Amino acid sequence: MDDGAIVVEELPVVDVGPVAHGGHCVARLDGQVVFVRHTLPGERVRIRITERGKRFLRADAVEVLDAAPDRVAAPCRYAGDCGGCDFQHVSPAGQRRLLTSVVREQLDRLAGLTWEGEVEAVEPDDLGWRTRVGFAVDDVGRPGLRRHRSHDIVPIEECLIAHPDLPRVLDRTWDAESVEAIVSSTGERLLVTDATIPDAVEHAVDGVVAVDGTVRGGRGALTERVRDHAMRVSGSGFWQVHPAAAVTLVDAVLDAAEVRAGETVVDLYAGVGLFTSFLADAVGEQGTVVSVESDHRASRDARRNLHDRPQVRLIGATVEQALESGPFGSADVVVLDPPRTGAKRAVAGIAALTPRRVVYVACDPAALARDLATFADLGYRLEHLRGFALFPMTHHVECVATLVPA
Ligand SMILES: C[S@@+](CC[C@H](N)C(=O)[O-])C[C@H]1O[C@@H](n2cnc3c(N)ncnc32)[C@H](O)[C@@H]1O
Repeated sequence: MDDGAIVVEELPVVDVGPVAHGGHCVARLDGQVVFVRHTLPGERVRIRITERGKRFLRADAVEVLDAAPDRVAAPCRYAGDCGGCDFQHVSPAGQRRLLTSVVREQLDRLAGLTWEGEVEAVEPDDLGWRTRVGFAVDDVGRPGLRRHRSHDIVPIEECLIAHPDLPRVLDRTWDAESVEAIVSSTGERLLVTDATIPDAVEHAVDGVVAVDGTVRGGRGALTERVRDHAMRVSGSGFWQVHPAAAVTLVDAVLDAAEVRAGETVVDLYAGVGLFTSFLADAVGEQGTVVSVESDHRASRDARRNLHDRPQVRLIGATVEQALESGPFGSADVVVLDPPRTGAKRAVAGIAALTPRRVVYVACDPAALARDLATFADLGYRLEHLRGFALFPMTHHVECVATLVPA
């Protein structure tokens, strides 16, 4: 009988198991797997189911009954609502433990490899690090970030992981669908938006040096500095987002590559030429670096950044096309830094260059593990792997793997 009373559905309680790749932990509810966000291994939490799939459920922890030692109060008031971060509720050291477990589990499950290393801290390891943030704009013009696995926009007035020197785009509404704020390591600031911005507004946005959109037909570019190298990066072209990422990865790649003067090195997925530039120093003018990048704007920036290096040969093509057309012969060392999807269709072509070392920079441990398994089938074994926490508060992790002939 409906007497008008409100029926409150009892939310289930689960015991939380290990962390899984993607920013959630694994639990079981009535025998079914549940991926639970905003919790930690070992916790007992009350959950709200957010998605019911055929093989598993997704859920959010809404009440913590038994907290894990790594739990902290989330510094961000939008944590749990905004989909930009996964681990606001975890201490920085705890986040690195989670990332370490994920890398180990992916390598073990997908490549049969045991990794005993730990994901390394990079400062800042909590807030104020993101030098490039793309905001979505809702239908009344408020900028925000999307909810996890949703197109809904959560309007926000501040983002704590954003670098404090970013142009302040959250103080106003936008007649646009998106707006990206960028600050470079040299302190230059850029806005990238899909809308025409009247000059008056451009100047009202916090002294921004350039706007890359339809304004003035303008095309903004920034200068990034890494040690003594200056590099031009156009608009929202690819550049590592953590302020210490470029130097951390350059050092890790050079250590791993052990390049000698006069050698031939191939740098695949080269962007604006970050690694190419340092590898060119390492091989010297008697050596060769072949650098492959498919994005036109990045290739154009690479040409400008590397025009004074006679030992560098730039190829504007996909890695797959470049490997197929075989302009390299063989290589002493191959460096690759593919997008999140990995380098599935390039691995055989890389092995065919018979390098004495392969250095694989990876932003997705699952794609890395899958490709390491293929490399193993082609006679290359993992010699060394480092992991870096370059995306604090999120589940993302960067790895640098060194492979050598088995
Ligand atoms: C993770 S970024 C690395 C860029 C550079 N190594 C750096 O650290 O600045 C990956 C780069 O690969 C490029 N890319 C993506 N797919 C590609 C493909 N199939 N062939 C060549 N380049 C590709 C992207 O445009 C991007 O510049």
